[in-house]
Amino acid sequence: MINQANTMNSALPSAALDQLFRAARSYNGWSDRPVAEDVVQELYDLLKWGPTSANVCPARFVWVRSPEGKARLAELAMGTNRSKILAAPLTVIIGNDLDFAERLPALMPYGAETFQKYFAQPAVAEVTAMRNGSLQGAYLILAARALGLDCGPMSGFDNAGVDKVFFADTRIQSNFICSLGYGKPDSLFPRLPRLTFEEAGRFV
Ligand SMILES: Cc1cc2nc3c(=O)[nH]c(=O)nc-3n(C[C@H](O)[C@H](O)[C@H](O)COP(=O)(O)O)c2cc1C
Repeated sequence: MINQANTMNSALPSAALDQLFRAARSYNGWSDRPVAEDVVQELYDLLKWGPTSANVCPARFVWVRSPEGKARLAELAMGTNRSKILAAPLTVIIGNDLDFAERLPALMPYGAETFQKYFAQPAVAEVTAMRNGSLQGAYLILAARALGLDCGPMSGFDNAGVDKVFFADTRIQSNFICSLGYGKPDSLFPRLPRLTFEEAGRFV
């Protein structure tokens, strides 16, 4: 697996592209169907393969599923995000570990020392953690959709409060949270437009 390359180089079937992108939505309400623990493990085992710079893998995940955990997270959320967290079977907190470089001897055996020196600069560590942690959060959303789960990402919460409760005594900083489960179609807001290719970019 680890050294295997993708030799297919062919597009996924259109139905798969719908599931990942075109028909995938951000859900606000959830059915009672639970998310099995092995699905969460499988989700991590997919998202972990998404690339990060120097393989730093700075994202850390707290999978909040107990009633007590949900209540503590919900009380730190803004407005309607509270009830969304309480109704979801699971909400994951995606944090960035500012001490990510400690793991480089295992994650990047050749060059770990050089990178550790580079990441010892606080501003470099911070931007690297945010850039790559956010990428890993996006890999999580796509991996969840690939496994048939729906997502409800949210950034409307008290980050410092969440860090105090869920990441005490660490240098992990919450980035965003994402409810996971099987969404209720009637909880969807109308689909919003996206920028066109020309509006969003250009060839040079
Ligand atoms: C990082 C992030 C933070 C978000 N924060 C919130 C939030 O705090 N509350 C909320 O109701 N929706 C939140 N959303 C949902 C977005 O508004 C939604 O994904 C976007 O409008 C696209 O909706 P669609 O996926 O259904 O097309 C967030 C989405 C992302 C990716």
